[in-house]
Amino acid sequence: MEKKRILSGVQSTGNLTLGNFLGAINNWVNMQEEYDCYYMIADLHSLTVRNDPETLRENAKKIIALYVAAGLDPEKNNIFVQSHVSAHSELSWILNCYTYMGELSRMTQFKDKSAKHADNINSGLFTYPVLMAADIILYQADLVPVGEDQRQHLELTRDIADRFNKIYGDTFTIPEAYIPKTTARIMGLQNPEAKMSKSATNLNDVIFLNDTPDTIIKKFKKAVTDSDNLVKFDPENKPGVSNLMQIYGAVANKSNEEIEKEFASRGYGDFKMTVAEAVVEKLKPIQAKYNELLSNEDYIRKIYTKGDENARKIANVTLKDVKEKVGLII
Ligand code: TRP
Repeated sequence: MEKKRILSGVQSTGNLTLGNFLGAINNWVNMQEEYDCYYMIADLHSLTVRNDPETLRENAKKIIALYVAAGLDPEKNNIFVQSHVSAHSELSWILNCYTYMGELSRMTQFKDKSAKHADNINSGLFTYPVLMAADIILYQADLVPVGEDQRQHLELTRDIADRFNKIYGDTFTIPEAYIPKTTARIMGLQNPEAKMSKSATNLNDVIFLNDTPDTIIKKFKKAVTDSDNLVKFDPENKPGVSNLMQIYGAVANKSNEEIEKEFASRGYGDFKMTVAEAVVEKLKPIQAKYNELLSNEDYIRKIYTKGDENARKIANVTLKDVKEKVGLII
């Protein structure tokens, strides 16, 4: 039987966080044998907000280095750059003509980002989900590992693909969201009610994968908890403590019950230090590999050049089919 195909993407703005690692990349490593995997640096999506060009370019390379350092084998996975495969932009335009303004207006990410960047509500921000749909269905992806926050975009992708199939006959695989059961949803350390975000304004809220051990320990010491001094998993009433437990559980491979027992008679200070040290230990080999890879530009280029080529082959077949069906001269 053919392997199922997986596609996912990450924007090239900002640095990757512990949330990205525990919630996504770490799981991808386990999927590389079982699936045919495509991971994309969504650099076109990053243009919907203003960036420093050099920083944006560097970030894309950093993400590739981190993917590989975290265990994604570039021989087994296709790691590529969205803007290097022109089919994404081309299909995106075509799909724009099959997507309604009303649908795009309902996207919560558009509403959130418009509020956050009120001085730059550009059309790219509005049609962002259409480009994302193109990213996915170009590859006939079966599964799309994404966070909860991208579920609505995936629903729209399915609607667009289905609409197109109904008009022109079977063209696109209808993708499904892949949210592994074991995925840890990591929240902010200062605001444990919201997802840990790489664009957080309070830097103490987020652990970046390239934070130094000192910084990591400092941030965990400042993490918001509560006044019970009881290590117990209760996300509703104890979001801060529960989030720290999630993090510790994911990096040290322990269940909530085990963690509760371990800290039954110990205070939060002790608990926070243990979590911090476990994170530092987990990230140490990844950071070492990351720094080594980053200094090897040629190797990074080789990784995405091969990924780009493989991606183009599949994407161009789909694009040609679409162009033919909608009536373009090919
Ligand atoms: N929009 C996604 C995010 O912000 C990134 C992304 C772009 C993506 N294209 C994709 C994710 C295709 C999955 C599949 O997280």
